[in-house]
Amino acid sequence: MLPLFALALNGCGENPVHDEAALIELGNYLFFDQRLSGDGSISCATCHDPNHGWADGSPLSQTYPASDGFRNSKSLINVSSRTVFYWDGAYSGSDPSEPTAEMITGKLFLNMHDYLLTERMKQVPEYVALFERALGAEPSFDGVIQSLVAFQTTLTTGDELESLESASVQRGRDLFGGKAQCSTCHSGVRMTDALAHSTGVPENPIIFQDPLRHTAYRVYLKEHEVEDYMTIGQDVGRFAVTKNELDRGAFITPDLRQVADTAPFMHNGVFSTLQEVVRFYDERGEGLGLTPTEMTDVVSFLENLSRAMPEISDMPSPAYQVSAEWLEVSN
Ligand code: HEC
Ligand code: HEC
Repeated sequence: MLPLFALALNGCGENPVHDEAALIELGNYLFFDQRLSGDGSISCATCHDPNHGWADGSPLSQTYPASDGFRNSKSLINVSSRTVFYWDGAYSGSDPSEPTAEMITGKLFLNMHDYLLTERMKQVPEYVALFERALGAEPSFDGVIQSLVAFQTTLTTGDELESLESASVQRGRDLFGGKAQCSTCHSGVRMTDALAHSTGVPENPIIFQDPLRHTAYRVYLKEHEVEDYMTIGQDVGRFAVTKNELDRGAFITPDLRQVADTAPFMHNGVFSTLQEVVRFYDERGEGLGLTPTEMTDVVSFLENLSRAMPEISDMPSPAYQVSAEWLEVSN
């Protein structure tokens, strides 16, 4: 039984970790390295920027050059405690290795071939040394994923609440769990039920007006084998994944622990402030009947959730260069 158990622990294709700190350092470098994109022009940090709450600060994300995006970039803060990934919940699991792999090879993200990536890494002596220290192995695609996942576990903020809270924050907390009904979906420590809901967030018309975003969206629908993919005029959300009519226009409830740092908001970035978000909820359906002061209180509560961002050594352009003896590198 023991070998089976060991296999389950290490997961498929994963290398045993020799040095966790080296693995995180490797992931940190790779995260900021533009060599991870097919044309060498963008990195993970282009769309998950530490200066924009590990999202990108735009309503709709960019993509690999020559297309443009149709979804708001997701913040990677506390990503390692999520169990469902992407606005449409396309991936689930105990860690973000599947979405991380898609970020590298996906045509609309880094558009990188896994073999090409491995060969690029092998020509850089510092990467070879870090892989050896971290995993006791030469550069591999699985190792790249493992190190990026390890790095993402460091992007956390605490759960503990401030002891000094204003009266407005306290009222906001009561409203959040009471009259405003927010905790029906934003529940638990991470403030999400990890389920999809159709909340009626307005469409972002730019997706259907900008040719580059429009084509990217059509490709996404086609890849998900959605019928009428050329004519649909709304973001169908989770429906693309499940094909269940109840999921049309539904999105996964995002966690809110660091929400004040990750504007603009919603899957399509239609709201640029938390005030707009709370007003949207107040006016939705039969309405919540919040007074202006109550709305301000809910916003104060949301703002007060943020904790100090993790300190990461900023490595926007790694100094690592291709070895002068790259011809000697064996493959
Ligand atoms: C061109 C922009 C872009 C690049 C480059 C990019 N991302 Fe993303 N990332 C996004 C967008 C947009 C989403 C949300 C996708 C969705 O929900 O449909 C996302 C989602 C994710 C998620 C899922 C998070 C969640 O909670 O749902 C992870 C993990 C992630 N990215 C990690 C990475 C890593 C690691 C890299 C580098 C290897 C990377 N990303 C590169 C734009 C990008
Ligand atoms: C029915 C479930 C539900 C209820 C009730 C609910 N939310 Fe949400 N919330 C969601 C979902 C789903 C999204 C994502 C919607 C989208 O992107 O289209 C979301 C998004 C958000 C966002 C944007 C987060 C981000 O990262 O972009 C904020 C802020 C938010 N909700 C706060 C609240 C507040 C405050 C309340 C109470 C007034 C509330 N929510 C009530 C399900 C809910």
